[in-house]
Amino acid sequence: MKATSEANANIALIKYWGKREKKLILPYNSSISMTCDGLRTITTVEFSDEYDKDVVLINDEELKKDEKDILGHLERIRSMAGINEHAKVVSETNFPVAAGLASSASGFAALTLAASTVAGLTLSERELTILTRQGSGSACRSICEGFVEWYKGEKDDGSDSYAETIADKNHWSEFRMIACIVSEAKKKVSSRAGMAQTVETCPYYDGWLKSVDEDLKNIREGILNKDFSLVGLTAEQNCLKMHAMMMTTKPAIIYWIPATLEIMHHVLAWREEGLECYFTIDGGPQVKVMCLEKDVNEINKRLLELEGVKKTIICKPGDRAMLVEKHLF
Ligand code: PMV
Repeated sequence: MKATSEANANIALIKYWGKREKKLILPYNSSISMTCDGLRTITTVEFSDEYDKDVVLINDEELKKDEKDILGHLERIRSMAGINEHAKVVSETNFPVAAGLASSASGFAALTLAASTVAGLTLSERELTILTRQGSGSACRSICEGFVEWYKGEKDDGSDSYAETIADKNHWSEFRMIACIVSEAKKKVSSRAGMAQTVETCPYYDGWLKSVDEDLKNIREGILNKDFSLVGLTAEQNCLKMHAMMMTTKPAIIYWIPATLEIMHHVLAWREEGLECYFTIDGGPQVKVMCLEKDVNEINKRLLELEGVKKTIICKPGDRAMLVEKHLF
């Protein structure tokens, strides 16, 4: 028996950075993202007693160093379903992995949906987000469509730390996120290690936590009222606060490269000119530029003219993770 699913990556407008509990992956703060139509992973999973170990192939390459503990996640699903068979997992993405474009989000969401289905579990969307969260935190937001909030929750068992859609993909279909690829190199510090180091050593972590509720409120309000300036300004500042923390941990984590700054300065200058756009950046050098559909062609053209921009991918609010008929093997 095989199951195949498709999931989109998501880009956070309000970032998750820091775990209050590491094993279950419970965050210190809630976060809000957009599921991105344009950054997709397809994954087929088969459990069979013909396999004597788990085999995982990502974009045609066999997984050797399991840095994200994909095998641990398969084991979690097996033990929930009460099965013993090993798995074959084949996964393909339509964008570069491990460079700060949230490939682990689409990957873990697609894996969780396909593996739990073929293992015989029938989970609600909320339960699926809780299970996905235990594989990779931000991935739980990729289960849901459109604009999504992941609630930090209060309970120790994580049962109230789930994700849900706060506005569906059609609510604000003019919203665009242009992912600018400036480097395809694998990032040096994983988000897992980076956030742990931040919680331990950054003197500003308390300030981050104190100000995040206000950011969440503004983004929710901005999304519901389609107030692009409020969403853009809040998301941009939230991103800069996160990077300010990263830079001031010991040792410093600096994900930006010259091309990252080149885009940031241009976005600020274009905005001055009246072309409204904002940036956000995650755990890597890539920049995602937010704008509205009416300006997307002009902004994309200008981005592609910059020296450091290798490629852009234009994303709009995307669908939830879904099962599909066509298997990859
Ligand atoms: O869930 P992780 O371990 O991939 O961490 C994600 C961290 C950020 O992308 C920087 C922020 C976020 O909320 O997506």
